[in-house]
Amino acid sequence: MQDRNLALEVVRITEAAALASARLMGRGDRKLADHVAVEAMRRAFDTIDIRGTVVIGEGERDEAPMLFIGETVGMGWQTGESSPKVDIAVDPLEGTNLCATGAPDAICVIAIANEGQFLNAPDTYMQKIAVGPEARHVIDLRESPTWNLERIAKAKGKKVTDCTAVILERDRHADLIAEVRQAGARIRLIGDGDVSGAVMTANPDSGIDVLFGTGGAPEGVIAAAALKCVGGELQGRLRFRNDEERARAKRMGVKGEDTIYSTEELAQGDVMFAATGVTKGYLLEGVRFFGDSAKTESIVMRSKSGTVRVINATHHFNTKPKNSWATGLEP
Ligand code: FBP
Repeated sequence: MQDRNLALEVVRITEAAALASARLMGRGDRKLADHVAVEAMRRAFDTIDIRGTVVIGEGERDEAPMLFIGETVGMGWQTGESSPKVDIAVDPLEGTNLCATGAPDAICVIAIANEGQFLNAPDTYMQKIAVGPEARHVIDLRESPTWNLERIAKAKGKKVTDCTAVILERDRHADLIAEVRQAGARIRLIGDGDVSGAVMTANPDSGIDVLFGTGGAPEGVIAAAALKCVGGELQGRLRFRNDEERARAKRMGVKGEDTIYSTEELAQGDVMFAATGVTKGYLLEGVRFFGDSAKTESIVMRSKSGTVRVINATHHFNTKPKNSWATGLEP
């Protein structure tokens, strides 16, 4: 991907999705919040000069009307061959429940890579460990959480008791949580949103040192892209709930069941990542609405340069066309 401006363009896509879904914050309807985010994102793609193919999206063609795997997006398909051909990984609303209940850290996310560079992750689970740059190269998913915590603490020059792990609050994590507590580390349990959880590990101000646990595999690829941009690390191992998922993964070309994927295998080559906050969180501010405007906070990162940009935008609704996706006021 040569176009540096693309990183600044794609943030408009996550802003559009955030503006749309934030209108539904706390309304208790996670499906509708997701739906408006998908729709806003889909329309925003038509204003971006790329020839994109969705490789991680809302599901397979028969189960998703928009942003399905294989869908082509971007105005570049109409305008000609000079626009970059890229693969797209999206999670239009990461943390649908967080948005529906007004809980922290619902975000809209996109990651972009050159063709064929993302792991085509099936919609199954992935066991993950993620850390920021200081603890890169010291972690190993094959080892226990205790082993990893000791190594992370050492790499960061602190004690395990000073470390904080972020873990999805799920029954399947009972043993993991017990072990991390036993090791003496602090824990931030989250209801949803392990992409935010993973990205937080790279931000010293978040106070989060590591993400442990099993969440969505597509989310794992997106988080790997983000961490790659900032020199962090995410390792993942696919976890299947049943034979159908196993078969689906095989059809998608997934290797052995116990393969541990490195950050580089999840997101190869040059990647970029953009996210906009929907609800106020540890990672980003949420959308704030005023009479005829709204403010958003986004983060945009590129692996090639390692540049991280935080973009605070004010969106003036009276200068946008009525019912524009950019107002978040879709009927
Ligand atoms: P949605 O945005 O689709 O609701 O997913 C939120 C999420 O918490 C992800 O961040 C996480 O990877 C996954 O769901 C965990 O899945 P489950 O809720 O089945 O444990």
